[in-house]
Amino acid sequence: MPTPPNLLNDDGSASMATMFMMSHHGLRRDLLRFERALGREGRLDEAQVEALRAEWQSYRATLHGHHQVEDTGMFPRMREVSPALAACIDDLAEQHRQIDPLLTRGDSAFAELPSPGPALAVVRELRALLEPHLAQEEQHIVPVIRSAGAFPGPGTDAEADLYAQGFAWSSHGIAPDILQKVYALLPEVLTARLPAARAAFDERCRRAWGTARAGAARTPIPEADSYS
Ligand SMILES: [Fe+2]
Ligand SMILES: [Fe+2]
Repeated sequence: MPTPPNLLNDDGSASMATMFMMSHHGLRRDLLRFERALGREGRLDEAQVEALRAEWQSYRATLHGHHQVEDTGMFPRMREVSPALAACIDDLAEQHRQIDPLLTRGDSAFAELPSPGPALAVVRELRALLEPHLAQEEQHIVPVIRSAGAFPGPGTDAEADLYAQGFAWSSHGIAPDILQKVYALLPEVLTARLPAARAAFDERCRRAWGTARAGAARTPIPEADSYS
């Protein structure tokens, strides 16, 4: 595996690349947590089953949304800006199509909880497909978006709430000084919502994983020891 890039640019600034990789960090972090929660000894109780199913639905929607933004926004723009990336982008888009059916399979697998076997198998397969995919994007796409700093603001209050929830999710486990730089790029309508959104996300973590403990990553790779 290539060395993971830093979340911050070489000059110490945050950019769209930082936000993009914070999402990758969140996607990796949650698969790690699923794998650990499902692989634990002992039977899952009813509350755990319910929380894990809810967490799966949310993971599935987040990953699908991430792919959609790439397929319909980022990748077409990049084809124009960097024609040399065309073959790589074809590859990445094809990988999205391979990952999608696993998300559908995940629904039936999580329906079989408290029996953890099928869900664990889906999570492991997903990890095997997703890891090289994210690494490929970080190697080839990230350098192109390092210079983009502006974040398009939300258009409505409802959109601002949704963005705040997304940032609360992707902030969890990232080093605080990096978050400070990222939040400085966001419009006030969004940053005003972040403290409440982050507190609500911690609560969600306690329900699903029994703890809101998190790492302080400086790359898109989660600090695995923080999620045992
Ligand atoms: Fe992707
Ligand atoms: Fe991605």
